[in-house]
Amino acid sequence: MTDAIPAATEIKTIFNSIAPVYDQLNDRLSFGLHRIWKLMAVKWSEPNLGDYALDVCCGSGDLALLLAKRVGNAGKVTGLDFAVEQLAIAKQRQQAKCPTATIDWLQGDALALPFANHQFDCATMGYGLRNVTNIPLCLQELHRVLKPVAKAAILDFHRPSQGYMQAFQQWYLKNIVVPTAEDMDLKAEYAYINPSLNRFPDGTEQIKQALIAGFSSAIHYPLMGGMMGILVLTK
Ligand SMILES: C[S@@+](CC[C@H](N)C(=O)[O-])C[C@H]1O[C@@H](n2cnc3c(N)ncnc32)[C@H](O)[C@@H]1O
Repeated sequence: MTDAIPAATEIKTIFNSIAPVYDQLNDRLSFGLHRIWKLMAVKWSEPNLGDYALDVCCGSGDLALLLAKRVGNAGKVTGLDFAVEQLAIAKQRQQAKCPTATIDWLQGDALALPFANHQFDCATMGYGLRNVTNIPLCLQELHRVLKPVAKAAILDFHRPSQGYMQAFQQWYLKNIVVPTAEDMDLKAEYAYINPSLNRFPDGTEQIKQALIAGFSSAIHYPLMGGMMGILVLTK
């Protein structure tokens, strides 16, 4: 696979096909740590009781479910994704984990959000920005639907800037990710991670793009020696 951006339909097909094992794989590949990074992203999006929160590229719903706990029964969450198989799993997980929460699971495109301007009090996106085909447009859309001064927290994998961390990441992808994916018959799907990391902007460039999209402040927090990062935006 090359570093060229795959078509949105190809990305959708990948995420639909891995939906049944996606959560299990996340736990295995991150040794459960993704749960901590997701808690951090939710905290930094600053949800309050009664808020209307958005989780873009919600997948199987981890961040939306965490947001639902923070906004409480007086609040509301929308989880948006274009992969219906992921949304179906998110719905099932909500039934099991927090059936009383108000969460809309909506099929939609992060590049053309189906909402009017200034709707949401806060937003999250986990491992979504690296996967959209037009990052500046995605940031503009996110900015458009947030209320003034609302916060968004965007969590994703990164290519670390330091050589030894890059070497470690390559080792991890080759020796942990690929064998695990092979074990689950998903080698081709996970071959996609490396090229997506190559073309993903680093923290400094993400800040630049967020400010151009209209955010008044953008701070990028590297995690795990730069293998992970959270971009915190204020409208
Ligand atoms: C790696 S998964 C992350 C899921 C979840 N946020 C999490 O952290 O576990 C990326 C998700 O982004 C979705 N996605 C990618 N591009 C999208 C787009 N343009 N519009 C909506 N969803 C998109 C995929 O369908 C997939 O479910």
